Amino acid sequence: MTAPTPTRATIASGDPGKSRALAGLTPRNCDASSRPHYSQDVSAHGAASRVVGRMAGVTAIRVRDYSPAMDAAWAVGLLDEMFGGRLQARRGQLIDALGVPGLVAVDDADDRLGILMYQRVASECELVAIAASRGRHGVGTALLEALQARLADGDRIWLVTTNDNLDALRFYQRRGFSLCALRAGAVDDSRRRLKPSISLTGAYGIPLRDELELELHTSRKL
Ligand SMILES: CC(C)(COP(=O)(O)OP(=O)(O)OC[C@H]1O[C@@H](n2cnc3c(N)ncnc32)[C@H](O)[C@@H]1OP(=O)(O)O)[C@@H](O)C(=O)NCCC(=O)NCCS
Repeated sequence: MTAPTPTRATIASGDPGKSRALAGLTPRNCDASSRPHYSQDVSAHGAASRVVGRMAGVTAIRVRDYSPAMDAAWAVGLLDEMFGGRLQARRGQLIDALGVPGLVAVDDADDRLGILMYQRVASECELVAIAASRGRHGVGTALLEALQARLADGDRIWLVTTNDNLDALRFYQRRGFSLCALRAGAVDDSRRRLKPSISLTGAYGIPLRDELELELHTSRKL
């Protein structure tokens, strides 16, 4: 996944009247007492839609399947803002992040909070894209937990991120992922061959050059 452009732009949520700050780019209330409480209330929403988290004092986070018919317009906008488009360059190839199955996190009012797109091949599952339209509110964790709940014990989740994406590296490693590959210069190659629009500079003003791969075996607790 190409790193998000460092910007303070806002993204329209499922409710067109609301806009949400880009994940992690605006100051948040970070005291421990306001951290999310996660529940596993499966019965209330059925198999494809389970409450997996709670934005403290705000709303429950429910995760359901991505529906191209219902969600594509919103998802295209989110991926444009976060990753410069739905076509993501990794491992020397472009992948359409919206051409694979996915999960959408929503709040009590069914406003969309974030997306996770994934692709399974046997016991391997690529996390193709993950983005929260409102960062540091438990959305990313809820999506990851929901993905993990769909996989069998021992399945491997893997993903590609970029050298500048320190927030993502923190997020994944705090949730049990470990680094398994470094491809120095891979983003430079993708910019030359596949996606000229990839910016030269990524998050925190860091030159955007390399791909890093992380993995998690699903028996490990998030
Ligand atoms: C990476 C990303 C998906 C994580 O999603 P997120 O919704 O911010 O993740 P969470 O809120 O579940 O967790 C992030 C942190 O916020 C904390 N947090 C969650 N709710 C909180 C709250 N109410 N108050 C304070 N902290 C809170 C979590 O505990 C976590 O911190 P930790 O890692 O120290 O445990 C998100 O940052 C994002 O969209 N980034 C831009 C797109 C991107 O780069 N995607 C990855 C490409 S590889």
